[in-house]
Amino acid sequence: MKELIAVYNRFAETYHENRGIFDMSQIFNEFYTIINIDKGRLLDLGCGAGEPIPAMFIEKGWKVTGVDFSPKMIALANFYQPKVMTILSDISEIDFENDQFEAITAVYSLFHLEKEKQSPLFEKIYHWLKCGGKALFTYADQHYTGAESFSGYKEFMGEKLYYSHFTPPELRNILQNIGFEIIREDYREIGGEIFLWMTVGKPRKSRQRPDCAPRDKGT
Ligand SMILES: C[S@@+](CC[C@H](N)C(=O)[O-])C[C@H]1O[C@@H](n2cnc3c(N)ncnc32)[C@H](O)[C@@H]1O
Repeated sequence: MKELIAVYNRFAETYHENRGIFDMSQIFNEFYTIINIDKGRLLDLGCGAGEPIPAMFIEKGWKVTGVDFSPKMIALANFYQPKVMTILSDISEIDFENDQFEAITAVYSLFHLEKEKQSPLFEKIYHWLKCGGKALFTYADQHYTGAESFSGYKEFMGEKLYYSHFTPPELRNILQNIGFEIIREDYREIGGEIFLWMTVGKPRKSRQRPDCAPRDKGT
């Protein structure tokens, strides 16, 4: 992954300058409606320069933690979004206490992790979310890589970047086995690229499930 850090360090500023091509306002508005709470804590995985999603949550009064392994990206986030609490780390290596966040996002980042590291991260995301919490992430599939299941390199902004993804049914299976409810899955074309946008939720607390455990893992 060292090479990916180097790539993002190299084009951090150009990426940030061109970030407006990929408009996130509709995605943010829809996710914010689904979250349906006024304020809370957001964890953004692969936060880049802290814009636009972390900035949109800050604007709404949320506390935001952003994690990224590129020192250049983190420096930009600290400069442009000083209210975001940034952590320089690989998202597959970081850990938090359980039940910390009302929302977790991973926008155009998680597909850079090897498939084998994605399932353990989904599991962690589940535990970091509070009961009823929601997560939104961008996922690659054959619309982007041309393959049903993929691990390899693709060109982006003149650089070769590593991508890895399961098939959509495999992904759904992984998420549901962990206990997530799949709330939305949308193919969206943004800036000429088609990705799968997944919105998932951790079940709410109920009298039958005081620890909000998924139904089939019952209490
Ligand atoms: C395409 S950029 C997206 C940045 C931001 N989320 C946005 O929407 O503009 C991908 C970001 O994920 C970060 N990233 C990729 N793999 C990572 C990993 N394993 N751990 C931490 N950050 C990672 C990169 O450094 C980069 O800042």
